[in-house]
Amino acid sequence: MFAGRNVVLGITAGIAAYKTCALVSRLRHEHCNVDVIMTPNATNFVTPLTMQTLSQNKVIVDTFAVLDRDEQWQVEHVSLAKKADIFVIAPASADVIAKLANGIADDMLTTTVLATRAPILLCPAMNTAMYDNEITQVNLQTLRSRGYTILEPDSGILACGDVGRGRMVEPEEIYERIRSMILPKQDLKGKRILVSSGGTSEPIDPVRRIVNNSSGKMGIAIAAAAKARGAEVTLVLGRHTATVPPTITDIVGVETTLDMYDAVVGRASECDCIIMAAAPADYRMAKPFDTKYKGETLTLELVKNPDIAATIGHSDYQGTLIVFAAESTDLDRYAAQKLVDKNADMLVANDVSLEGAGFGADTNIVSIYTRDGQVTHYPKMQKTEVADLILDRYLAL
Ligand code: PMT
Repeated sequence: MFAGRNVVLGITAGIAAYKTCALVSRLRHEHCNVDVIMTPNATNFVTPLTMQTLSQNKVIVDTFAVLDRDEQWQVEHVSLAKKADIFVIAPASADVIAKLANGIADDMLTTTVLATRAPILLCPAMNTAMYDNEITQVNLQTLRSRGYTILEPDSGILACGDVGRGRMVEPEEIYERIRSMILPKQDLKGKRILVSSGGTSEPIDPVRRIVNNSSGKMGIAIAAAAKARGAEVTLVLGRHTATVPPTITDIVGVETTLDMYDAVVGRASECDCIIMAAAPADYRMAKPFDTKYKGETLTLELVKNPDIAATIGHSDYQGTLIVFAAESTDLDRYAAQKLVDKNADMLVANDVSLEGAGFGADTNIVSIYTRDGQVTHYPKMQKTEVADLILDRYLAL
């Protein structure tokens, strides 16, 4: 689940450090890379060897003595800070909380935290009186206001015998919070989504075809995002140049608009949502040549292809229909009209004449129209971001 993800885990002095062993083990079980930084006092509670064995990585203890040169220390703390997808401190003592709240960076752990741009999760553990102390509470509030996530400790009998707040939350709860902070949300679980992508091509003769400029990037980004968010995804894919990620396994390859029509209309009843990001050819040859055409001039007689989106929109399809509109003028007017013509729930319009929008680019500039007349114009974004935006808007319909 966590393959390719990096958790940097700080351990400070506290008996709860023993619970952190289970957390490291759990993360490793899910193929997460874990780099552990321990304060010297933390090594009184669990040994670096324990953490090294569980994490399968060198454990860093924040004494300069164990490292050869200052230079190495500099490289180490910056590289770990950059590598982190999330920085977790469990247990987080009152001391480390106070240092972080005041920007003190006097050891390996606090220096690395100060240098990171990753989200930070603190799991405090301490005696109740220390936790309830106004100084600690003010420090925690300061950190919250700076974007730190604090997993409030549980109440119960503490190691010192006192009863009250201060017991570090269980490793499974920390694991779940890490998961929700760094892995995509699974808000499309249980949904079946069909995405059309790429261009269709129509034969003129056995060697020539009518094609368009769709790279497939937009539709593939939507399919990949839907898959990452837990949906079952079918990608109906025409001509494309973009790479399909290995996570998308249900791919129906098509050539012509009639092929795409069959693939999409034939599966519509199984889908909760259909997103038509493809650029199907609007016309096909009335009668393609059977052999390679050799004449001096060539006039093509084209006939209109069926409109796949409109067919679904005007059928008894019960799911959500999201269509695109590729325009080069009068975006609002044409988009609003297409939403009605295709009887769609939502329309994503892009002005393909703009730099960084439409065909082939990694970015897009879209406007979203819904049945209730709402129109939202968005700035230029990566197509991967547009994909998540469309899925967010779908869930909000
Ligand atoms: O693939 P990329 O290089 O990333 O480029 C992305 C894109 C520009 C192709 C994409 O963002 C986009 O705009 N897709 C729709 C292209 C298109 O065909 O637009 P349209 O306005 O002609 O069609 C409107 C809608 O009807 C679209 O959802 C289209 O898929 C659908 N359609 C069109 C023709 C047809 N015969 N049947 C259809 O269902």
